[in-house]
Amino acid sequence: MARERTFVPYLVVAIFALALAAITGVLLRFGMLYGMPTWAQNFAAVRHAHSHLMYFGWVTLALMALIWCALPRYTGRPLPPAVPWQMTLTALMALLSYPAFWQNGYGLTTIGSAHLPLGAMVSTFNGLTWFFFVGLYVKATWRMPVRPLPVQLWDWAIMLMLLASLGAVGLVGMVFTHAENPFLQQMFLHQFLDLFAVGWFNLALLGVLWSQASETAPLPRWLPTMSLALLLAPTFVLGMSPAVVPEYIFWLVALANVGAAALLAVHLVQIGRLPRRGPLIAWLAFAALAVVIGAAFALLIPGLWREYATGHLRIFYLHDLLLGWISTMLIVLIEARYALASVRWRPVIHTLWAAGVSGMLAALLSMGAPALLPIPMLLSLQIAAWCSVLVATAAILLLIAAASRLRR
Ligand code: HEM
Repeated sequence: MARERTFVPYLVVAIFALALAAITGVLLRFGMLYGMPTWAQNFAAVRHAHSHLMYFGWVTLALMALIWCALPRYTGRPLPPAVPWQMTLTALMALLSYPAFWQNGYGLTTIGSAHLPLGAMVSTFNGLTWFFFVGLYVKATWRMPVRPLPVQLWDWAIMLMLLASLGAVGLVGMVFTHAENPFLQQMFLHQFLDLFAVGWFNLALLGVLWSQASETAPLPRWLPTMSLALLLAPTFVLGMSPAVVPEYIFWLVALANVGAAALLAVHLVQIGRLPRRGPLIAWLAFAALAVVIGAAFALLIPGLWREYATGHLRIFYLHDLLLGWISTMLIVLIEARYALASVRWRPVIHTLWAAGVSGMLAALLSMGAPALLPIPMLLSLQIAAWCSVLVATAAILLLIAAASRLRR
């Protein structure tokens, strides 16, 4: 119990990041309707501030806290004493990414007489704190005689995080050498952001989910870990601009993506067999994961990816994965461990979250594929904007609940 309490402050920071990045998402959504305000003119830079705070401050920090909290159960040893230092540095660097990206994203910002690539610099510092996490994780799990399923999933999640970090190294290298190669720029950007999300987030989240499930039910005899990681690894190519990806590479990666989706479906089916399925919003997360799996098969329709990869449908897919599946499931797992909100507030937060997320996703789907869900474009933009207010409100209420848990 004392160990669990150690991680509450980091979870409060993670939920603060969720709330701030969600409010920024609201700004972007209303910015699309009415134009951005004068104090936030650079839409692309503010979008970078939003997405990086979500990645580094919300999902990564929360996953690390949940992994550290669960790990001693498997190692039988206390955590390395440097863990609080690593978590504090990770939290600080993640929060710094927000102002660093706000003005110019990955471009140069003028401070006095210097022109600094603040976004690239802060990404590098964030990456260094992740390597610190990886070093401590390796130390904590060194020479474990058997590696149970959650640990195997975390091992592979970390491998893919390291592989994704190489993309960040490439991006930083391009900024510093002023290299201008559209293929490499696209490859490094998506190796970093997409593999980080699809690899590290998915596998680490499944590890935490199975770790919590194993407290009340026996684990299935086999679930894919390494095979899933290997098939997920090349799928970041699908995030790149179709203009720079040759046809044969697309088909190789699309097939790997279908394989990964089939293995994710094996996890989903086994989760469905668990005796305790969690609160109702867990179903929203499972539905969003089912959409991710379905999308992998849909990409086999010739021409579909080339036509839709860069438009509204990509934003729908990203938010189905990151908001619908990963963020909703993270909230379920944090609450299962920490019971943040009181019994009176939990249904309010869950209702706002579920209504906001599903409304926003439906509007994004309609913008990307009006044939599937015909809603006039302006109305879809308005629905997405107002539903994002519900999501941000749920995040703020969750933050208040988490902060008062810290005081208790
Ligand atoms: C309150 C919930 C959210 C809102 C209102 C929101 C809003 C937005 C908006 C308006 C955009 C720009 C879309 C465009 O350019 O067409 C965007 C992009 C993005 N968002 Fe979100 N978002 C939310 C949640 C999340 C979460 C939870 C994550 C990740 C964990 C995330 C990651 C991203 C990413 C990666 C991009 C694309 C960035 C890029 O291409 O540079 N968002 N979001």
